[in-house]
Amino acid sequence: MGEDVLRVLDERTKSTFDMPFFKGAIRAMDLRKIKTDGTDFGVMSYDPAFLNTASCQSAITFIDGDRGILRYRGYPIEDLAENCTFLEVAWLLLFGELPNEADLANWVHEITHHTMLHETTKKFLEGFSPDAHPMAMFISTVAALSTLYPEARNVRDAASRRLQIGRLIGKVPTIAAYTYRHSLGYPYVYPDNDLNYAENFMNMLWRMVEPKYQAHPALARALDVLFILHADHEQNCSTNVMRSVGSSEADPYVSTAAAAAALSGPLHGGANEAVLKMLDEIGSKDRVREYVDHVKAGHGKLMGFGHRVYKNYDPRARIIKWTADRVFEVTGRNPKLDIALELERIALEDEYFIQRKLYPNVDFYSGIIYQAMGFKPEMFTVLFAIPRTVGWLAQWQELLEDPEQKIARPRQIYVGHDERRFVPMEKRVAKPSAASR
Ligand code: ACO
Repeated sequence: MGEDVLRVLDERTKSTFDMPFFKGAIRAMDLRKIKTDGTDFGVMSYDPAFLNTASCQSAITFIDGDRGILRYRGYPIEDLAENCTFLEVAWLLLFGELPNEADLANWVHEITHHTMLHETTKKFLEGFSPDAHPMAMFISTVAALSTLYPEARNVRDAASRRLQIGRLIGKVPTIAAYTYRHSLGYPYVYPDNDLNYAENFMNMLWRMVEPKYQAHPALARALDVLFILHADHEQNCSTNVMRSVGSSEADPYVSTAAAAAALSGPLHGGANEAVLKMLDEIGSKDRVREYVDHVKAGHGKLMGFGHRVYKNYDPRARIIKWTADRVFEVTGRNPKLDIALELERIALEDEYFIQRKLYPNVDFYSGIIYQAMGFKPEMFTVLFAIPRTVGWLAQWQELLEDPEQKIARPRQIYVGHDERRFVPMEKRVAKPSAASR
């Protein structure tokens, strides 16, 4: 073999094994050829939390975490945020190319005509307690769509997949807006087909008695840009869940609900809500240093800081900061911004954060904008889930079209007991166990 192999010497057997490089990686299954004898299972790789494991090949999103680069289908995120609408970017992510004028017009028409919810879905939402967390309502309601579209289970049927994709992208803003109205006790507002995606969402959130909702163009554009920035981010925790659940051929509604559940955690999409709570806890600019010292002493984390992949400034955070200025020109400055800027300044000069390459991520500034626009923190993660639905669906489609993919099923290293003799009830003695921890 030439230079395109990794040669491994197994000291146990003194045998060498050649593993061909595949696109710069090795195939984990090649490790299984490394055996002590014919009965040996072969070598496995151990990688909790997937720190160094590629689970798929993907042509959707490229991230260079060391250089702070993010591209969708090859296009820099900065260019897309400046020049495109969210639905244009959604088409790009889902179908691989920027849409031409006719494609975009048809796509916008399709999504606009899928925004209505079945009345039973509205009734389903009405059953939630008004103080239920909007993200919990969102997750459950997206899963409940599965009851209305049983044909969605035909995940191997490309035409059915295409239909469900349009439905989901059309309906998630309506579900999100209804959770918001429900938590405030306001009547639901039906979609308005004259409005674009972001404007219609704002209409469903905020229209009261006026006959026609007029979105502020700068705020509608800011929301659209935020949607573009959140649309996909390759194999993050929730996308991995989408692929994992989708790999069992579960329908896209329950798979999307599962992905949204993963997003809701504070270490992932739930961080935007946690950032606002943290800024409230800090309270004022002069208390920032004390808070940072507290974190360095091992008490909690700086929410909105750090990323598994970015070891440089998250490019989305830079665009969000710029978008914040446009929003504040309309809404007035959110006083929390001063605390956030001071936090960023102190953290970026601090050895602890420098050494660990911890920079603000997408969630650090997004909540400050959302709050200035009138959202309560509990809605922030729902605002993330709307655009990420596009990324989840693009990844789901790619998974189902990939002939190498199968049901996701990791291996484990078993560290429990060897076979034990069964103990009858009368002979069991009380021992501290997991149940009492
Ligand atoms: N504040 C303080 N210290 C941190 C932070 C933080 N936000 N993030 C990481 N660290 C420290 C860790 O304690 C660890 O220190 P150590 O080496 O002394 O043990 C070191 O930096 C490495 O961190 P890991 O936890 O190994 O990094 P990992 O890649 O597993 O986690 C994560 C990434 C989950 C994003 C983490 O940085 C974090 O919890 N951040 C805060 C929550 C957050 O903002 N999440 C949103 C991420 S973006 C998104 O999902 C949309």
